Amino acid sequence: MTELALQITGVSKSFGNTRALDDVSLQAHCGEVLALIGENGAGKSTLLKILSGAHRTDRGEMFIDGRRYSPQGPQSARAAGVAMIYQELNLAPELSVEDNIMLGLPGTGLGLLRRETQRQRVRDVLNRVGLVDLDPRAILCDQSVATQQLVEIARALATRPRLILFDEPTSSLPQADVQRLFQIINQLRASGIAIIYISHFLEEVRQIADRYAVLRDGKSVGAGRIADISDSQIITLMVGRDVEQLYPRVTHSIGAPRVHIRRLSGKRQPQQVDLTLQRGEILGIAGLVGAGRSELLRSTFGLDYVSEGSVEIDGRPMQPAVRAAMRAGLGLLSEDRKHEGLAQELSIIDNLTMGSLRPYRKWGWLNLRARRRAAECWMQHVQVKAASPEQPVGQLSGGNQQKVAIARILHQQSNVLLLDEPTKGIDVGTKAEIYRMMGNLAAAGNSIVFVSSYLPELMAVCDRIGVMARGRLQAVRPTTEWTADAIMAIAVGSQPLPTAAPSHDFSRK
Ligand SMILES: Nc1ncnc2c1ncn2[C@@H]1O[C@H](COP(=O)(O)OP(=O)(O)OP(=O)(O)O)[C@@H](O)[C@H]1O
Ligand SMILES: [Mg+2]
Repeated sequence: MTELALQITGVSKSFGNTRALDDVSLQAHCGEVLALIGENGAGKSTLLKILSGAHRTDRGEMFIDGRRYSPQGPQSARAAGVAMIYQELNLAPELSVEDNIMLGLPGTGLGLLRRETQRQRVRDVLNRVGLVDLDPRAILCDQSVATQQLVEIARALATRPRLILFDEPTSSLPQADVQRLFQIINQLRASGIAIIYISHFLEEVRQIADRYAVLRDGKSVGAGRIADISDSQIITLMVGRDVEQLYPRVTHSIGAPRVHIRRLSGKRQPQQVDLTLQRGEILGIAGLVGAGRSELLRSTFGLDYVSEGSVEIDGRPMQPAVRAAMRAGLGLLSEDRKHEGLAQELSIIDNLTMGSLRPYRKWGWLNLRARRRAAECWMQHVQVKAASPEQPVGQLSGGNQQKVAIARILHQQSNVLLLDEPTKGIDVGTKAEIYRMMGNLAAAGNSIVFVSSYLPELMAVCDRIGVMARGRLQAVRPTTEWTADAIMAIAVGSQPLPTAAPSHDFSRK
């Protein structure tokens, strides 16, 4: 049995009436990775925030290396050897790599000598995360997301942690970068550090974790060695019941062509895309990160610059502008939920309805009750877990925010839905609900473009799949005619690049 690094007993935490953690107990061992698993809103992030000093417990005790641990804030957590890697990067983008690493560390001051020792320390930690060639004076925001994340890990290492907490670190990373991250986690584990790792991808959990702990509705409902439990047993623990179908199919029939995209080109991407979308169809778009999939959706929606080409809906040409797109029935779910999706400080009601208040306006007044009823109805439809419709969206768990974002475009009565990574950060049970929802929407005659980096879901849900590479839509075929390997082969295709290479590799094949 390995040594205990962390022991948590009976920790509870409430936010107002929401009981985020209810008598949680768990353990993490030195030199092991503990996967923290649970549905959206189960309390995973809250637990890590408590450990990293961002929140205080209401009740319960924590011990690190057998010593009582109750951090007064992030600084005191770091001093006690606990480092946290947030899902959304938590660095100062305009500063240099070395400044980011040294920021907030004790003993950082002026003086040439000190600067030189600091440089050495920065180089050491950058080497440890494999960034051997990165210039410490480089400005952070010029680096790729994956590199920035490694810098964040380097910063964590500079504090010489005992325990490192990862909250969904891979949700924005392409597969090659995920593997690189795993190599680093393996090294950290080998050096005796304890790691807690949150992910909604059970394949990942199986690859990287030694043990698991499952939270459901804020309670610990199971823990053990990952080798001793099957995926379906984990899912049953998470959801509290058996999930029979991870990919429910809803029968839907495909109708007449509805959207014609012709030679659509943007600033750099997309390039000359031709695509016809039919009524009642779910069309998947696969491709590498950087292949231009999001840009295709954004140009179609009039959000990104269109240099050439046209979009026609129901036989009418559409102006390349967001207003015109919305009027024509297009709805876009942006991949960047935090910055482009929802207003974090506004309520669920406001977020759901702000795009179309007209149904609730009468003689210049807003019928607040009708608006609330509609919001409740949509929340129920997509099963948002929240204290009330008045709760600010920023207080919801990641997955529940995503559901609100989807409900919003449904509320706008969009019937051509452009969904960019709609299941990012969503738990397995809820993913199944979202697939079913997409099937129902298609059955009702809506058309859906579904961009995803998770190939199994595209193969299971879509009627046709198109593959993008280097800004171009390379091939569109019925899903039954594709194999995962054939999609990959086209996605990594051998055509010369017009400009900078997109980040290599396919996400989570
Ligand atoms: N600052 C806050 N104020 C109010 N409620 C909060 C706050 N932070 C979290 N909650 C609530 O606590 C519960 C647990 O949220 P948490 O973010 O820990 O879930 P999670 O397991 O990380 O979910 P996800 O998988 O979606 O990220 C949710 O119901 C959430 O709405
Ligand atoms: Mg979370």
